Amino acid sequence: MNFSEEINKIPIIKIISSFADESKTEVFMVGGVVRDLILKRKRSDLDFLVIGNSLEFAENVAKQLGIKKVSKFKNFGTAHFRYENFDIEFVGARKESYNRNSRKPIVEDGTFEDDIKRRDFTINAMAISLNKNNFGELIDLFNGYQDLQSKLIRTPLDPFQTFDDDPLRIMRAFRFASQLEFNVDDSIMNAARQMKERLRIVSQERITDEFLKILSSPKPSVGLKLLYDSEVMQIIFPEIHNLAGVDQRQDYHHKDVFLHTLIVVDNISKTTENVWLRFAALVHDIAKPQTKKFVEGIGWTFHGHEELGARMMKNIFHRMKLPMNKLEYVEKLVRLHLRPIALAKEEVTDSAIRRLIVQAGEDLQDLITLCRADITSKNPQKVEMYLANYDAVMKKVLEVQEKDKLREFQSPVRGDEIMRICNLKPSKKVGEIKKAIEDAILDGVIENNYEAAMSYLLKIKDKFLKSEDSK
Ligand code: CTP
Repeated sequence: MNFSEEINKIPIIKIISSFADESKTEVFMVGGVVRDLILKRKRSDLDFLVIGNSLEFAENVAKQLGIKKVSKFKNFGTAHFRYENFDIEFVGARKESYNRNSRKPIVEDGTFEDDIKRRDFTINAMAISLNKNNFGELIDLFNGYQDLQSKLIRTPLDPFQTFDDDPLRIMRAFRFASQLEFNVDDSIMNAARQMKERLRIVSQERITDEFLKILSSPKPSVGLKLLYDSEVMQIIFPEIHNLAGVDQRQDYHHKDVFLHTLIVVDNISKTTENVWLRFAALVHDIAKPQTKKFVEGIGWTFHGHEELGARMMKNIFHRMKLPMNKLEYVEKLVRLHLRPIALAKEEVTDSAIRRLIVQAGEDLQDLITLCRADITSKNPQKVEMYLANYDAVMKKVLEVQEKDKLREFQSPVRGDEIMRICNLKPSKKVGEIKKAIEDAILDGVIENNYEAAMSYLLKIKDKFLKSEDSK
């Protein structure tokens, strides 16, 4: 298979290719960039495999392009620079594991095959030659192309060896499955289950990075379910693992909180790319296991789970090294996720609505998005009813906001005029009269103009002045 047409469209390829021949060096485009080229996915990272001295090669290519800044990592045989909007990386073929994030330096230079077989997955272990004699040719030692067609994540070697080189690859398998909506091979699931404890030696930053990539994928439940099924979730996010098996109802309608959560996360992912809103969806019921109680005649209850859940966030954010500037947002959504539905009733007061507006602040729309995603009933009539309830709440929110906007206005008849007409000194009474005029306007009793306000004042003043403390 030949991809010369496709790669010729990439600006830097011609320069690399001619320099490869000039310097008699074998050079390949390799890894994720080849996978994405075949899948027609856009990307800005381009990785090149050099059989020989990658640092020198990168330096020379950069010189030809007039680029001065090349970052070199001698221990790992990698060099990196930016060109136009691309991140360009050159890596020398190596015998050891490919893991550039490990602190362990590479031991020995290797051949093309040595390098390729130590990569994570077959779909990431393809290369395209850049040398003239076979320019554009796909070199696919482990049937990665076939696996791309059959949507399968598989390791080039025995998964025990591939994961031993870098245990994070267990999570990478699930991340790619989630991003691409692929299946993972049974051998990966088996090795993941047996090797999951090895993830404890991986840095939290790398684990969290993969976890957030899963959450950012089009259908996060794919990756989350794999994490759960392989028992990796128990290690990286035990609170989520513990949601499984918590029955919500004692009657015919047994619902597992974990499965419910997966649906909520998928629902919300259809409407938002905001990973923190997705995260809030993931954790909104996180305290259900701790608050679960069986009440005779009612069934299972989870009283206070929203408050306890919000309080659990700080520890989780610390432990998972999540950005602390997102903590308050997630806490708020977890804490308030039951509130809008409680406000759907007819008789709800303006002040209850106002409290929600103030507490949710600028995140009110996100809160409602979460509430809508939280509807997982299979009964379309119920779904419609719940959605209509949220529409009703939002209508009330708009009404109250509109009223409050009006409330900021001043009576067309000002305080000094009220004092003159009523013969009052500055006092509480003046304010009360002014407020009565404003309320009459807000409630639509009189029109919002000077004449109407003045004749209203003349009509009501005696009632106010009758009381003893009028002066
Ligand atoms: N790689 C690997 N093992 C790792 C990390 C990376 O074998 N733990 C190899 C794979 O061949 C991978 C390539 O290095 O394709 C580039 O790694 P990376 O940029 O992390 O992943 P990509 O496959 O490029 O995918 P993405 O950019 O979407 O993360």
